[in-house]
Amino acid sequence: MYRTHTCGELNMKFTGNDVILCGWVQKSRDLGGMTFVDLRDRYGITQLVFNMETNSLLCEKARKLGREFVIQAKGKVKERSNKNLKIITGEIEIDVEELNILNRSEVPPFTIEEETDGGEELRMKYRYLDLRRTTVKNNIILRHRVAQEVRKHMDSIGFVEVETPVLIKSTPEGARDFVVPSRMQPGTFYALPQSPQTLKQLLMVAGFDKYFQIVKCFRDEDLRADRQPEFSQIDCEMSFVERDDILNTFEGLAKYLFKQVKGIEFSEPFMRIPYQEAMEFYGSDKPDLRFGMRFTEISGIAKGHDFVVFDSSEYVGAICAEGCYEYTRKQLDELTEFVKKPQIGAKGLIYVRYNPDGTLKSSVDKFYSPEELLKWAVAMNAKPGDLLLVLAGDKKKTLTALSELRLEMGSRLGLRKRDLFKPLWVVDFPLLEWDEESKRFYAMHHPFTSPIPEDLDLLEKDPGKVRANAYDLVINGVEIGGGSIRIHDATIQKMMFKVLGFSDEEADDQFGFLLNAFKFGAPPHGGIAFGFDRWVAMFGGQDSIRDFIAFPKNNSGRDVMLDTPSQISVQQLNELRLLIKPDTRG
Ligand code: AMO
Repeated sequence: MYRTHTCGELNMKFTGNDVILCGWVQKSRDLGGMTFVDLRDRYGITQLVFNMETNSLLCEKARKLGREFVIQAKGKVKERSNKNLKIITGEIEIDVEELNILNRSEVPPFTIEEETDGGEELRMKYRYLDLRRTTVKNNIILRHRVAQEVRKHMDSIGFVEVETPVLIKSTPEGARDFVVPSRMQPGTFYALPQSPQTLKQLLMVAGFDKYFQIVKCFRDEDLRADRQPEFSQIDCEMSFVERDDILNTFEGLAKYLFKQVKGIEFSEPFMRIPYQEAMEFYGSDKPDLRFGMRFTEISGIAKGHDFVVFDSSEYVGAICAEGCYEYTRKQLDELTEFVKKPQIGAKGLIYVRYNPDGTLKSSVDKFYSPEELLKWAVAMNAKPGDLLLVLAGDKKKTLTALSELRLEMGSRLGLRKRDLFKPLWVVDFPLLEWDEESKRFYAMHHPFTSPIPEDLDLLEKDPGKVRANAYDLVINGVEIGGGSIRIHDATIQKMMFKVLGFSDEEADDQFGFLLNAFKFGAPPHGGIAFGFDRWVAMFGGQDSIRDFIAFPKNNSGRDVMLDTPSQISVQQLNELRLLIKPDTRG
């Protein structure tokens, strides 16, 4: 028997017991006649003690143990004189009688402690060592817990988990596909699913009226803290449902997870905000509602005062930072630099201090009298003591810049608290997005999303105006999930492909399987998919999903541990009849 107990379970109740433990040497300390070793496994740390006086040979052996050696220790549990009440096993130690080295270790490239000295690249290269660190390990265990709770809940409400294939045909969901060449049919390719979208719709045609799956998805797109090329979704689909059936069912899942995992109960229904409103008041389709600072458009009262910046702008909008009238010149300069960053793109920032004595002082006093500035403050419901921040320009760009400024102010004022959760549904997205460059419409969600019935007439007449029967679950400014009611009628689906610029042949070539299936009794259906990694990271209180994935890729899509993507052999290329072209991109 390798072990009788783990390193995380022994306490005073076990004193006097003979036990065997296995694990890794976290560290060892020589204190004259005694050697102490911290033994670590998945469950915790237990102190081993070796006594020079009672067993000098064993003590000598213990002194030679290096960090991360794998050992087995047999001994008696005894009460510790110097207790560490921070850890569960901190009241006891093991008086070791037998020590076996199960394996040696080289000196690890970084410290395997809560606070490590290893940089990101090094930790990723030796991810198996990084995973030994408590924080990272706990993230992975949290992920496991959330997955179990998802399965428990979905099963309890009648959903069936069905696995769908990983080698499929390309589905257009906005990103580039990863492709896999076929050896048996050289010159042809599979695509890895960006999501199992069409397959779950086929499962609805097949009559599985409540499907879910925790599933890997693959997207060849630019990476960010909350994006990996390979990520997981909690993918769901239901038949005979309308939008509200879906929202209610999955609000139920969200509430269940919050309760089970975080111990947080939401008694009120989640807020529902139409897309237009989210854009108008927060400049984002994923507003962070942990704080207010809604936008106020002041174009009407701000224009017409010979201030050319405003007069030449399509939109003038402002936010009110409560209690910030004392912001210093330096802080305001920093904010101006912030909004002028190329990725934010504002030309400048105008401020108004609403002093506690009721006077107003702005960066545009030359153009606006205090009475005029007071009108802005009234429009914004500002109080003496507040600071108004104003941006102007093209409407779409200014809303986006104002959104960034709002988030920045939220962070600076400590309003984006990690332990506060503000979920909401964003609904009524536009169905289509016009792309100026290619002069065509793209599906905002995906091409299988149904227009809302009232807007169906507009689909051929004025496609840009059509609203989609689509929704996103947003929590704290993160898009946690998105879905829609689907088109289940082959004629409407064909019409949609036409609006998206597919010829009948192209539509048949790419989606014949779905259009065919729709000829055999497709039920009305709809669904949603949640970013599983994002949800877990949010529960773990972090922005980056990487530390919640056992073996993640870096920002360039590389797995530095496996050292891939990598070349394949000439023989493999030949079998696939592939030839690598020289890089001519300059
Ligand atoms: P969508 O493309 O919105 O919808 O994806 C659903 C959710 O998946 C998460 N997500 C990601 N997470 C990590 N890395 C990525 N690269 C990444 N891309 C997306 C987001 C997102 O909300 N088939 C549809 C769903 C449906 O209509 O039912 C789909 O995939 O949290």
